[in-house]
Amino acid sequence: MHDFSAGIIGTGKYIPGKVITNHDLEKMVDTSDEWIIKRTGIKKRHILEDGIPSYKMGIKAAEQAISDAGINPEDIDLIITTTEAPDYLSPSMACLIQKGINAKNAAAFDLNAACTGFVYAMVVAQKFIESGYYRYVLIVSNEGLSRVVDWKSRNTCVLFGDAAGAVVLGKVDRQFGIKESYLASFGDLGHNLTIPCCYISDEEKNKRSENMERTIWQDGSEVFTFAVRSMTDATRIILDKAGISVKDMDYLIPHQANLRIINGAAKRLEISDEQIGVILHETGNISSASIPVVLDIFSKNGKFKNGNTLIFVAFGGGLTCGSLRFLWGK
Ligand code: ACO
Repeated sequence: MHDFSAGIIGTGKYIPGKVITNHDLEKMVDTSDEWIIKRTGIKKRHILEDGIPSYKMGIKAAEQAISDAGINPEDIDLIITTTEAPDYLSPSMACLIQKGINAKNAAAFDLNAACTGFVYAMVVAQKFIESGYYRYVLIVSNEGLSRVVDWKSRNTCVLFGDAAGAVVLGKVDRQFGIKESYLASFGDLGHNLTIPCCYISDEEKNKRSENMERTIWQDGSEVFTFAVRSMTDATRIILDKAGISVKDMDYLIPHQANLRIINGAAKRLEISDEQIGVILHETGNISSASIPVVLDIFSKNGKFKNGNTLIFVAFGGGLTCGSLRFLWGK
């Protein structure tokens, strides 16, 4: 048992200014504001301007998180970037961000667990910090999904948006920080949500329109069923590991893909609306950035009190899912 925990000491976010409302989408595909709100809860999404690389969002979020932590970029030992839509396969997004913030002493790598990426990265960072290997780890969840969306496909274009969220992790008092965690992958279900890259099979080509081979495709109802089940199970697993009940939890911070998924899991777990942190109506699905963006908004709004029990839970491509218990405070 250590005399400290790995915990969040700073948060940041960047949400691009350009907005696409449901009414804007009505002019682009055969959809309606009413359908999108009723079936997903999303009212608008923010999109990166053309010509700006996605990692610029990550730089802004990272700079805020580092300043919030009261440290300097040179203090960062490791940068983990979670992303489903990197600007390059090489250099990694983490190295691009390292250069942008001048964190010259940091090691840097990307981690791809799709929308579950932030939860995976938190557990990786925890191991580095609690082992004493590193002092400060920066996680940047940098998601420019608009770059991999087919804007002519109503099945996907209504769902996604762009944003970056960042946290700095360091040593905190033992009573706070990351506690129990659960990470899982279901590679046998991976075909239900794909974004091809360097190899594109005929099967993947056939799912998409011409010249849209590198866009996101999903079997919406299969992913929906998996999402509700895995978010429910992953939350229960953490509550059981911690030996606590839903009533002992102050906030559930879920990955935000569809309000019906969140509500479906909440209903099964008997969690009240006030216990759930939701921003999806404003952002759409921002993949792994959704949890750190909520953390930044809620912590800076003063919603979290020292010692609050938060449960982070996410699911996504891979397919993957994960959860962890986090006690807010330094
Ligand atoms: N606008 C209007 N109508 C639509 C739209 C749209 N954008 N999309 C589908 N429809 C129509 C369908 O054609 C269908 O019409 P029909 O009844 O005449 O056949 C009807 O609406 C219902 O379609 P469903 O696909 O059954 O709609 P559903 O309620 O399942 O919602 C959705 C679809 C929103 C995609 C839902 O299945 C979902 O959210 N799935 C999970 C997606 C998800 O969470 N992805 C996570 C990604 S995580 C990551 O790693 C990126």
